[in-house]
Amino acid sequence: MKFDTPAGPNPIDRMTVVGQPHNRFEAELKTTGTATYAYEYYNVAPNAAYGYILGAAIAKGRISSIDTRRAEAAPGVLAVITHRNAGPLGVGKFYVQRMLAAPDVDHYHQPVAVVVAETFEQARAASSLIRIDYARSPGRFDLAEQLDSAPVAPQMEFGGPTETQVGDFDQAFAAAEVKVDETYTVPDQAHAMMEPHATIATWDGDRVTCWTSIQQMNWGTRDLGLILGIPRENIRLISTFIGGGFGGKGTVQSDLVLAAVAARMVRRPVKIALQRPIMFNNTIHRPKTIQRIRLGASRDGKLTAVGHESWSGNLAGGRTEPTTLSTRSLYAGANRMTAVRLATLDLAEGNAMRAPGEAPGLMALEIAMDEMAEKLGMDPVEFRILNDTQVDPENADRPFSSRPFVECLRTGAERFGWSMRKSQTGQVRDGDWLIGMGMAGAIRGAPISKAAARVRLDRQGMLTVETDMTDLGTGSYTIVQQTAAEMMGLPVERVVAKLGDSSFPETPGSGGQQGAPSVTAGVYAVCSKLRAMVAQRLGFNTAEAEFIGGEVRSGNRRALLASAAADGDLVAEDVMEFGDLAKRFAIQTFGAHFSEVGVDVYTGEIRVRRMLAVCAAGRILNPKTARSQVIGGMTMGIGAALMEEMVVDKRSGFFVNHDLAGYEVPVHADIPHLEAALLDEVDPAISPVKAKGVGELGLTGVAPAVANAVYNATGVRVRQYPITLEKLL
Ligand code: MOS
Repeated sequence: MKFDTPAGPNPIDRMTVVGQPHNRFEAELKTTGTATYAYEYYNVAPNAAYGYILGAAIAKGRISSIDTRRAEAAPGVLAVITHRNAGPLGVGKFYVQRMLAAPDVDHYHQPVAVVVAETFEQARAASSLIRIDYARSPGRFDLAEQLDSAPVAPQMEFGGPTETQVGDFDQAFAAAEVKVDETYTVPDQAHAMMEPHATIATWDGDRVTCWTSIQQMNWGTRDLGLILGIPRENIRLISTFIGGGFGGKGTVQSDLVLAAVAARMVRRPVKIALQRPIMFNNTIHRPKTIQRIRLGASRDGKLTAVGHESWSGNLAGGRTEPTTLSTRSLYAGANRMTAVRLATLDLAEGNAMRAPGEAPGLMALEIAMDEMAEKLGMDPVEFRILNDTQVDPENADRPFSSRPFVECLRTGAERFGWSMRKSQTGQVRDGDWLIGMGMAGAIRGAPISKAAARVRLDRQGMLTVETDMTDLGTGSYTIVQQTAAEMMGLPVERVVAKLGDSSFPETPGSGGQQGAPSVTAGVYAVCSKLRAMVAQRLGFNTAEAEFIGGEVRSGNRRALLASAAADGDLVAEDVMEFGDLAKRFAIQTFGAHFSEVGVDVYTGEIRVRRMLAVCAAGRILNPKTARSQVIGGMTMGIGAALMEEMVVDKRSGFFVNHDLAGYEVPVHADIPHLEAALLDEVDPAISPVKAKGVGELGLTGVAPAVANAVYNATGVRVRQYPITLEKLL
């Protein structure tokens, strides 16, 4: 099915199942510990051997010699795999990191060997018997030192140009009556998901099946095929449940590659879980950015110049952090410039982490907006409303598919009690606590991609939906069930969703917050086809038939839906395609975040006291799972504001705090009551389901709202995240 914009009325609009706060079908499995994650598929490979990955002990240089003999002779060891016996390994498309790349070492904890043994303990013990001599080279580990050498990035992922210019920024900024020119830094951050990367791989001839933890099946088969040098058709990936990913499981990591390599070599299934302490330097992370923002405004508060330059670093060939994306679309302003620059660094690869680009970009822009509002003597909410734009400021021909940004701002201000805020800093005290309020705007791209699904209706009236969409704890299963149930007029309990298997019809998977809108559009397409098949079989006119209450009805004729499958299951498969939709519309989600913090006057301790997010993301498919996405994002944003930082050892070139003890993320005691309000909106321009994603929007804008509240409380402006107490004293 090809989507025609705008979508007319359709069965989803009934909202009898879609839009209802259904519990996740797997909630009970998750909370009782009986949901099966990749490493726990004991029955599929009862004779599995265990792999243990050894990471490089230097950041940059060469392996001059490697001696595996003692490890090979250790109890239980089946194989010791290094670059000498692994065979050639390629590089995937989305990540540039290499594995078993010796003699080269590109980054600390880059995989240099895998030990395979009968037990995990034997593999781990034997790995310590491998003797490696390294020849260390000087490395580049400090982004701040590499700024001058950073050219304009050759290309930016996710569709954006690396440099943009509109009007005459330099002239307009020089002439501006009021100016802000500040530099902000966001440190390297880790995904730090609960479930470590893990895989069980098993070969059957030249075909490999992997139970793994991966967000995007299509990227996974593509990249594993490229790395192993085998056709992607020979690869089957299965990810029934994923214990969090945040982009860190977007595609293939070392556990998957090396489990497949090891299983091929020892001719037995092999399972590998990345041990937590190597995850931070072995896999990808959100790279540090240094961002200069220049804003110029007239005294009446209109932005006249908007400039954003951003630097990040990466391994050679790696991608840049696209922080300027949001700056290009969020506010009006006739004269604009953005540029992203990319330095080469010898740290682990920087790549996608939840809201790549927008999350760190807004951490800078939305402090700068607060600084400008203060200079203008304007309320920060009113300042943003004054500079709203209804056309894409860099591309006037392309309308927003919908843009209720002002409504988010006004709704939030009203619900949060923003009028109580004092514009002067340091004015409100509660015992030993200085109290402040802050806010920030939010924008996050809402891509939607071609998605396919297959359905089967059986004679009992059960409907089974299969797609390769994944569920990383977000509720994908449940919204797929709801969409199919609504389309076919069934209760949600009559629909079984099967996801997370690359042998099912292809979707873009869970990434870029495009999973929910894409897969539900695919389910819409295939259910439309099934409706036509059912109508034909039961002798109804497709256009007139109503599917409701497990029946097909037209006029005063009724038939049981299940009766259409009386002579055998009805099976349909279809794909929803969107053509050049993304060229015709700027498709974005919008939000506004409000925060109240307390800062201890003696210690500088910062506590978030309450937060409100107002989000506009088209139709909300399930208010319960959507709210969970948003409050999860808010929690992550509070972490980004106040805690999260991978600290680089600039002599040796690695992230020092590489486990969950040293890398701080919020715990329950750090998080107060969070309120998430979802605007009542539909977006008929983008799909018949009229929904957008919300998972990444929930994070963007949160951290600067906290930062601005800390400033309002204390009068101390911190421009280097995280805002830890010593920066206030
Ligand atoms: Mo996301 S960083 O596209 O999972």
